[in-house]
Amino acid sequence: MQAPQTRPEPGTRSPAAGDSEVLLSVRHLRTHFFTREGAVPAVDDVTFTVRRGEILGIVGESGSGKSVTARSIMRLVPLPGRIVDGDVLFRDEDLAALSQGEMQRLRGAHMGMVLQEPMTSLNPVLTIGNQVGELFVYHPERTPQGFSVRGAVLDILNRVRIPDAARRLIEYPMHFSGGMRQRVSIAMATGCRPELIIADEPTTALDVTIQAQVLELLLELRNTLGVSVLFITHDLGVVAQICDSVAVMYAGKIVEYNDVESIFDRPRHPYTRALLRSLPQLGTRMARLPSIEGQPPDLGALPPGCAFAPRCPSVVDACRAQVPEPTPLGERGGYVRCFVADDELQADRAAATRSGGGGDGR
Ligand SMILES: Nc1ncnc2c1ncn2[C@@H]1O[C@H](COP(=O)(O)OP(=O)(O)OP(=O)(O)O)[C@@H](O)[C@H]1O
Ligand SMILES: [Mg+2]
Repeated sequence: MQAPQTRPEPGTRSPAAGDSEVLLSVRHLRTHFFTREGAVPAVDDVTFTVRRGEILGIVGESGSGKSVTARSIMRLVPLPGRIVDGDVLFRDEDLAALSQGEMQRLRGAHMGMVLQEPMTSLNPVLTIGNQVGELFVYHPERTPQGFSVRGAVLDILNRVRIPDAARRLIEYPMHFSGGMRQRVSIAMATGCRPELIIADEPTTALDVTIQAQVLELLLELRNTLGVSVLFITHDLGVVAQICDSVAVMYAGKIVEYNDVESIFDRPRHPYTRALLRSLPQLGTRMARLPSIEGQPPDLGALPPGCAFAPRCPSVVDACRAQVPEPTPLGERGGYVRCFVADDELQADRAAATRSGGGGDGR
């Protein structure tokens, strides 16, 4: 007889291969915006785990809650937004319990953020040398031993391959091309060798060649320094290239979470399938998330039941009545939120039992 298998609560372990230590654990996170029209559940019961050296991709249509998830982790949710429930554990530390000062020290030194448009994260009136140098002025303990501030700045600018960095320290952001500005913002996000980089659509504004270089740089930082990356993107081609695991968001919820191979080879949620179906020649071309028929819902007026039901080709009555809870996928922490997928998983398991196989339920 087989020993009973104990499954983790969905999302509390990483579905990616490998067994390095857990760095970030987000559990049942809810962030709402309190607008005049009522509360908007931008992030609604989001659970996932990132291990050291892991790259997790978060994908989903515009407005699905990707950036608000990232900002919630950094505790940078703009008003009228507020984290209303859930935990964010970073290195086993509950971030909600930290003071603003402690949180500020953590940001930059241990968590770095790269944004979509580097112009907004760089200060136009400070030279590149001065603004990158501020990092080490704020976090002197993270300045590499034996380095002056200037030396540390040059070191990280060389690391992100800014050509002729020593000469360019006195230049301003406007003198840099879009790609070079993005390199500077990656240098700033990674300069203190943080354990986690949150990259929110860092390549969207860049052309394809520069995009590829930025991805390569992130991979290199992971491979050489072992940093973890939370990579937010519209681009499934990029996800296939660099991510170990994927969380697909729809209307504030993660509807499917799994290792990257399972997401692409055996997608379970009809939304994930719809995204993949319209993806041309995966891996060979960059593809934007295609538009799926119908509109994403208004988060302030969600229908009862599954938010994807009005657009779902597989919808059944249950979908319109009740919000599906996460069902585990495999043994490693992945999950799917879908009644139709639940039925399919059950049918697969029954077929596997009949044919004498174990069936891993993925
Ligand atoms: N300042 C705000 N005030 C009110 N609601 C907000 C605010 N910011 C975000 N929201 C709500 O949160 C939802 C999620 O926003 P978020 O920025 O996380 O989307 P996203 O997935 O990052 O989209 P995109 O791909 O366009 O960047 C929005 O659809 C909106 O309803
Ligand atoms: Mg966003």
